[in-house]
Amino acid sequence: MLDQIQQLLQQIAETEIANTEQAEQFRLQYLSRKGLLNDLFEQFKTVPNDQKKAVGQQLNVLKQAAQAKWEGSQAATQHVATPSQFDFSIPSAQTLAGSHHPLSIVQRDIVQIFERIGFHVAEGPEIEDDWHVFSGLNFPPEHPARDMQDTFFVQTHPDFLLRTHTSSVQVREMEKHQPPIRIVMPGRVYRNEAISARAHCQFHQIEGLFIDEKVSFADMKATLLYFVQAFFGKAEIRLRPSYFPFTEPSAELDVYWGLNSEADHRITKGTGWLEIMGCGMVDPNVLAASGIDPEKYSGFAFGMGIERIAMLRYQIDDLRHFFENDVRFLAPFKGLF
Ligand code: DAH
Repeated sequence: MLDQIQQLLQQIAETEIANTEQAEQFRLQYLSRKGLLNDLFEQFKTVPNDQKKAVGQQLNVLKQAAQAKWEGSQAATQHVATPSQFDFSIPSAQTLAGSHHPLSIVQRDIVQIFERIGFHVAEGPEIEDDWHVFSGLNFPPEHPARDMQDTFFVQTHPDFLLRTHTSSVQVREMEKHQPPIRIVMPGRVYRNEAISARAHCQFHQIEGLFIDEKVSFADMKATLLYFVQAFFGKAEIRLRPSYFPFTEPSAELDVYWGLNSEADHRITKGTGWLEIMGCGMVDPNVLAASGIDPEKYSGFAFGMGIERIAMLRYQIDDLRHFFENDVRFLAPFKGLF
């Protein structure tokens, strides 16, 4: 049997494979189920035990040689088109390009509108301490927003939590800089909410802050009207009295959305008005807590949910879409950035 193997090795080495037919012939002769190699492996079973080792080794050498020859022939006989054979009219395979996420698009647009009037972007950490999220913003110790029901605390470090709003960045910026301060602060926030079409445990906000000498409520109103007109193309706003611990007076800003369509009636509950953000004059306690003299400076702040703005702009009815990354949802936003 060893002789036979030697012979076949020789034969394989001398075989020339020039085209695909010859390659296939070679495969049938040596490597197929009914080929020579399988025959030899069958015969191997009858080889006396004391010769098994030597014969087995040679058999493997043969098998490898046959395989190498065949694989080599495959590479060599692949059809390679010459330039004259290319058909340039055949459409190419489609390349799927990604798209920007609608939340990124909305955030960018909001930021750009404020940048045009002299605001710039500031950011802060998502894992925060109590001071920057609550105490520095004039939240009394027993305020319900501090409750475990709403806030994710870091179990091992009870003074640390996932920020529940981007207002925490205000405090950091006021600690770092003296006025004039004119910033917008986009970012992710966290609240202990069950996930539904209207709520999520993680979402995005953008906060604004303007502090200087003699900044008034009228300045706030004009700035926010400018934003609403630039972003939504809507002409009218109204400010409703509200309450936030860090602003005094505080207000909620409504946009006049109109009642032109059935959808307008539905989303405005028949009133034509839609609430889009909270705002107010920064409470003197908040300024003082961060080292800014409330006798000399005043300012306004505002905050809005980016998902809510995106849902209004693109008529998206379920918050969960933003976080599922379904390409059927994301694809239409291609080209909007
Ligand atoms: N921090 C508030 C929230 O999470 C939003 C907000 C309201 C921010 C009024 C402000 C503001 O800066 O003035 O609901």
